[in-house]
Amino acid sequence: MVKIAIIGFGVVGSGVYEVLRKNASDITANANTEIDIKYILDIRDFSSHSESHLFVNDVNTIINDSEIEIVVETMGGVEPANSFTRSCLKSGKSVVTSNKELVATYGDELFKLAKENGCKYLYEASVGGGIPIIRPLSKCLAANRIDKIAGILNGTTNYILTRMFNDNASFESALSEAQEKGYAEKDPTADVEGLDTGKKICILSSMINGEKIDFKDVHTEGITKITTEDTEYATKFGSAIKLIGLCERLGDKYSVVVAPMLVGNDSPLYGVDDVFNGIMVSGNMLGDALFYGRGAGKLPTASAVVADVIDIAKNKSDKFIEPWTESKTDVLVPYEEIKTSMYVRVETQDASNAIKFIEKEFGNGIKCEIGCGEFAFITPADTISTINNKLSLIPGTVLSKLMVL
Ligand code: HSE
Repeated sequence: MVKIAIIGFGVVGSGVYEVLRKNASDITANANTEIDIKYILDIRDFSSHSESHLFVNDVNTIINDSEIEIVVETMGGVEPANSFTRSCLKSGKSVVTSNKELVATYGDELFKLAKENGCKYLYEASVGGGIPIIRPLSKCLAANRIDKIAGILNGTTNYILTRMFNDNASFESALSEAQEKGYAEKDPTADVEGLDTGKKICILSSMINGEKIDFKDVHTEGITKITTEDTEYATKFGSAIKLIGLCERLGDKYSVVVAPMLVGNDSPLYGVDDVFNGIMVSGNMLGDALFYGRGAGKLPTASAVVADVIDIAKNKSDKFIEPWTESKTDVLVPYEEIKTSMYVRVETQDASNAIKFIEKEFGNGIKCEIGCGEFAFITPADTISTINNKLSLIPGTVLSKLMVL
């Protein structure tokens, strides 16, 4: 038997409890041992819970109990999850987490601590919720050099963009609907400003780089400026608009960026709609693979957490290998030097003159979609700085600019 504790009984933590109770016999068979919840830490009152005897409110009860081998951290946020995780690892307890913010911010330090103390720090649920992505990247695709990861990594923004694209909803009304359905938080900043996607793509990028790629160095744009005009033009260009976390290998450097992008209807990501996530991974031996499914939600995310618990319980003698270390080399291509095509929407009173300018700067034969007092086009691929320099001279006002995946 392996005794565990759950820290944080919110959506994911209570989901972990539910998964362990509902699937107990399958889990025992898969882990080759019984997983026993000894404590649940939460400062709220759970005295009416059917297993109220499990609840404690002092983390030291867990840290000082030598019977506890695995701690599930489902608190979210950096503190106090960070301090609690460090204390658990220092006392030789493995920790399993769904906390992308903590993994993206301090993962390198926590992995090192786990290694030094002969335990493990696993994080499958931190990216893609219930979709297997961390273990496939580190194990199944280990024979590949990963050249590119492009992911729709946030369910809330994908829901909003899908409503805007399919039903012509405005950003504001799609957001309200997402809040009503419980997808978006009351304060939706982390989702709609791309911060959540940013943490997730940094985790995946750090894994393939082997050194930390820091979120604070990554160009991050959200979806708040996308309009229904943009989604209409995107349709005309045979594309959808998706919030993409992108990591692309360029020699020994990486371009990592989070931004709403035009995704063509020939891309597997084009059809990833509603709250679903899709992560496209390109390996130099495999080619492209798409990981698709529910990237958020109580039970899908909890099932990924429990899978990590099972892994530790079953493979106690496995050595823990740090997925990445601290950052030692500057590997990021500056945003302005990233090469991409750009969708551009321009307001002008003189479309024919502006289009002449565009043909001179970007080449003849560029397809323009004309609207009322405005038009849109897609540039050939070039560095963002070169495209921006050319656009600064355009006879008109640039209303939107989006990368093309
Ligand atoms: N708010 C996130 C989403 C939850 O909408 O995808 C999962 O990280």
